[in-house]
Amino acid sequence: MEIDRRAFFSGLGGAAAVALMTDEARADALEHHLMAQAAAPATYPTAAELEAQIDTRTSRRGAGNLFVAGTGNVKRLAPLPAAPTLADYFNLRFMATSNHCLQSANRALKNGMSEEIILACLLHDTVQDLIKVDHGWWGAQLYEPYVSDKVIFAIRYHQALRFYPDKEHGYEYPDIYRRMFGSDYTPEPYIERTYQMVRKHKWYLEPRMVTVNDLYAFEPNVHPTLEQFTDIIGRNFRQPRDGLGFDNSPVAHMWRSVAMPDHPL
Ligand SMILES: [Fe+2]
Ligand SMILES: [Fe+2]
Repeated sequence: MEIDRRAFFSGLGGAAAVALMTDEARADALEHHLMAQAAAPATYPTAAELEAQIDTRTSRRGAGNLFVAGTGNVKRLAPLPAAPTLADYFNLRFMATSNHCLQSANRALKNGMSEEIILACLLHDTVQDLIKVDHGWWGAQLYEPYVSDKVIFAIRYHQALRFYPDKEHGYEYPDIYRRMFGSDYTPEPYIERTYQMVRKHKWYLEPRMVTVNDLYAFEPNVHPTLEQFTDIIGRNFRQPRDGLGFDNSPVAHMWRSVAMPDHPL
């Protein structure tokens, strides 16, 4: 059964709260969540019903995780070192997305994917801590100066491919999208056009493999760590000497916005 990771985590007080739980408590919570899910009828809202919820919210669904509290208030963030690395951002800013990305990269590793696909999986949703809307494009831009064109292609287009099943490669339309976008949702024309372009591209399998290894399930006994990927990052990620956010790259301001989201201007 597929687990709605967001619903599961928010039911427990968010990813940070889950991280503080013992393994035993986490396993218990997961079991309760699965039982509740099994008992609940599989009904999904329509796109119109989701649209009608917009003005019942205090924030928009496209806002990044760092800027909105799932429950309660936002948390104080630990300072980053002077020249922050990808690992520093992973540990100190990408708290809401890191587990999902580590699980996806771990699955890609187990499935024998290339280093570029594993890295793309590791990075693919991290930009959602900055901004969620159109996260494939935002994520590709965030990483563009530091990784290969193939990794960028995979990150940019995984977003569009998520809406299109590919049975041959073992990818089905995700149930969680019926909940997130509505049971009758059809992707917008720019997504459809992007899909058609990527489907015919010689690099199609790069983003497709990100979607195949994109893991929404919270696996209770799998705890991948960033250290497993240190060598792959070292070989495939050009860490700037002055630190991400301080290297005067065209995307440095995006990294600074992740580093210091409390700055009012
Ligand atoms: Fe994604
Ligand atoms: Fe994902």
